[in-house]
Amino acid sequence: MSRAIVTVDRDFTVGPVPHRIFGSFVEHMGRCVYTGIFEPGHPEADENGYRRDVLELVRELGPTVVRYPGGNFVSGYNWEDGVGPVEQRPRRLDGAWHTVETNAFGLHEFAGWARLAGVEIMEAVNLGTRGVDAARELVEYANHPGGSHLSDLRARNGSPDPFGIKLWCLGNELDGPWQIGHKTPAEYGRLAQEAAKAMRYVDPDIELVAVGSSNSRMPTFGQWEYEVLSQAYDEVDYISMHAYYQEENGDAASFLATALDTDHFIESVAATADAVRARGKHSKRIHISFDEWNVWYQRGLDTEDQPHNVSRAWREHPRLIEDEYNVTDAVVVGTLLHSILRHGDRVKIANQAQLVNVIAPIRSEEGGPAWRQSIFWPFARMRALATGEILRPAVRSDRYSTARFGDADLVDVAATWDEERGRVALFLANRGLEEAADVQVDLRGFGEPTVASAEVLTIPEGGDRLTTNRAGEERVGMRALEGAGVQDGAVRLSLPPLSWSCVELAVARA
Ligand code: AHR
Repeated sequence: MSRAIVTVDRDFTVGPVPHRIFGSFVEHMGRCVYTGIFEPGHPEADENGYRRDVLELVRELGPTVVRYPGGNFVSGYNWEDGVGPVEQRPRRLDGAWHTVETNAFGLHEFAGWARLAGVEIMEAVNLGTRGVDAARELVEYANHPGGSHLSDLRARNGSPDPFGIKLWCLGNELDGPWQIGHKTPAEYGRLAQEAAKAMRYVDPDIELVAVGSSNSRMPTFGQWEYEVLSQAYDEVDYISMHAYYQEENGDAASFLATALDTDHFIESVAATADAVRARGKHSKRIHISFDEWNVWYQRGLDTEDQPHNVSRAWREHPRLIEDEYNVTDAVVVGTLLHSILRHGDRVKIANQAQLVNVIAPIRSEEGGPAWRQSIFWPFARMRALATGEILRPAVRSDRYSTARFGDADLVDVAATWDEERGRVALFLANRGLEEAADVQVDLRGFGEPTVASAEVLTIPEGGDRLTTNRAGEERVGMRALEGAGVQDGAVRLSLPPLSWSCVELAVARA
């Protein structure tokens, strides 16, 4: 049995929980859109072709904001192809994923789906093959109320009311040599600055995300952020970061400590943005949009379902990177969310990539069922329970050593305090593969707590750490965390080996 003592103090806060950190991502890639959220003819499809069964799971998951339409896809996409009468829309070759894009789904269809799902749209513009002109025209089309060529065209295409999209990404992963329209930091910085300026001339109320590094191992990481922000600091509000993680060579111990890397990555991007701020004598602060993150098993580019596989036949919505997530992945996803939440003073937007089928918490089959993957649960529970203020817990945990990240706490914690609801929410991972963790939580500045709810995700009976969910067989999910209680004013928890838990405490203000 390992041990941890956690202290949460009412006055040790990071700031309000930014609601956009519970974001997701829908890309025209694989089966995320087609046969994912949209499948006309499916028994569950509504009159617009949206899958009701998927929509129900999306509502249960609860993303607040959804990035669209890519991803690598956006860097070769003409937004105009996706509007107007469907039968007149062109079939195109999408070079990013070697896929035939029918354009049966475009901006109007996404906006209609987003309304039903209750999510904010985060729209990406193409700064790969296109530039300033297409970007500002898309803002006019989407946001201008009427009386101009493009806003009137939107009305004729079925949406007299503007979409009112506030949040815009200035391209995608343009630091990556794989990206269509890959750029140097100097080239991208200038383009982002000019696109941002022209987009704001059309709608001054929009918020803009500059492209940061595709991952922290990029050779240009650091230099990219510094140069891009040095150029475009005044014009943008956020810098993006992307990170995908996987278990390597069966080293679960290191994989479970991945959030240490996330902490380091976030802090490095924030420090770089602040260095530009100091050097440029800027007063505003650039925040972080962590707009792609997840576990992703990158199997090698020669395999059939992999990206950039040009030898694959051209097809509509091929099955791409439909990773099946296990218990270990779910615990890691929980800790990645802890890291994002703990940094909520700098990370104001975060999007798990992606929403359906493509490295996703929700899976669906063409003509068949939809179901929740293991990683659905930490997201859904934290989205529901992490409200109010982020607390900065002090954690004294037994530690273990990892090959990739050095020593790590066995118990990883994040916490929030919602004064209105009278609730402290605790999110806890036990990274120990064999041992349960005995956790004592001391509360300061709160009245006597009671445990309002306590749930855990762990290895299901008869399963192991690699157990996954299948259609009609969701073995990995939440169940009651036994034995959670209060003793001598302290909360006592026993976390099973390899587990992620969420505990709600009812507290009065002291
Ligand atoms: O989410 C899958 C892909 O990962 C995105 O298209 C791209 O931006 C990233 O490399």
